[in-house]
Amino acid sequence: MTEIPEHLLKRAAAARAASSGDEPAAGAPAEATPAATPAKVPAQVAPAPVVEAPPAPVAPYMTAHFVRKKIPWWAISALLLLPLWAFTYVGTLERPPQEATGVLAEGDQVFGARCASCHGATGGGGSGHALADGEVLVAFPSVADHVVWVVQGSDTVGLGNSYGDPSLGRVVEGGMPGWGDVLTKEQLLGVVLHERARLSGSDDDAALAEAIDDAVHGDTLDLAGHFDPATITAHEVEELLASGTVAGH
Ligand code: HEC
Repeated sequence: MTEIPEHLLKRAAAARAASSGDEPAAGAPAEATPAATPAKVPAQVAPAPVVEAPPAPVAPYMTAHFVRKKIPWWAISALLLLPLWAFTYVGTLERPPQEATGVLAEGDQVFGARCASCHGATGGGGSGHALADGEVLVAFPSVADHVVWVVQGSDTVGLGNSYGDPSLGRVVEGGMPGWGDVLTKEQLLGVVLHERARLSGSDDDAALAEAIDDAVHGDTLDLAGHFDPATITAHEVEELLASGTVAGH
C-alpha cells in the first residue's frame, strides 16, 4: 500500500536534481552570461527573427477609428445635459392658456353661458336674432350703440321703440334681457366684441379688443363695475373707449 512505484521515485529524483541546478539545460545559459561580449551576440541574434513577427495588418475601418477626431470633452458635457434639455423642452410643448385671458376670451365665455341659448352657439339665431355673418354689424354699425342695447335690453329701451341702425327700421318686440346689472363693463365689452369680431368677423373690432387688452394691462383703462342701464349713453361708452389711448369707434 505505501510502496511507491519505481518510476515515480525516479521522476522525483530527477526533479530534485533540476531544482538544485544540476540540470544541464538550465546550466548552459547560466554559464553563457558571464562570457565575453562576442559570445553573447550570437545568443541574442538567434531569437530575434522569432520576436520580429510582421505586425498584423490594420483593417481600414480600424484605421479610420484611430485617425478620426474624437468627441471633444466639452461636447460630452453638452450631451450629458441633453436629457435635461429634453425634459424642459417637453414642458414648453403644452399650449399656453393664451385665450384664457383677454376681453375676447372673456366674451366668448359669457356668450356661451348667457346668450347662446337664444342666439345660437355660433350666433346663427334662435328665439333671438342672428348675430353672425355680419348681421350684428348691420344692426349696429357702432360698437357704442351695440353696448347700450345689450346693457338695456328690450324692456328698458321700451316695446315699440326703434333700436339699432335707423335704416333697418328695427322695432323692439320684447324678449331680450338687459345685462347691465348682471355683467361687468369688461364682460359686456367682451361679449359685444365677441359677437362683432368672432361671430361676424370684424377685423376692426378684433383690433379694438386687442387695444382694450393693452390698455387694461397698462392700467390706463378700468373696466371694473357696471354700466348703469338707466343712464348709459353711446357717448359715455365712446368716451370710455377713447380714454386710456384706446381709439374709440
Ligand atoms: C332669453 C333669450 C335671449 C337671451 C338670453 C339673449 N337674447 Fe339677445 N335678443 C333676444 C331677442 C328676443 C331679441 C330681439 C329683441 C326685441 O325685438 O325686442 C334679441 C336681440 C339681440 C340683439 C340685437 C340683434 C338684432 O339684429 O336686432 C343683440 C345684439 C343681442 N340680442 C345680444 C345678446 C347678448 C350679447 C346676449 C347675452 C349677453 C343676449 N342677446 C342674450 C333674446 C335673447
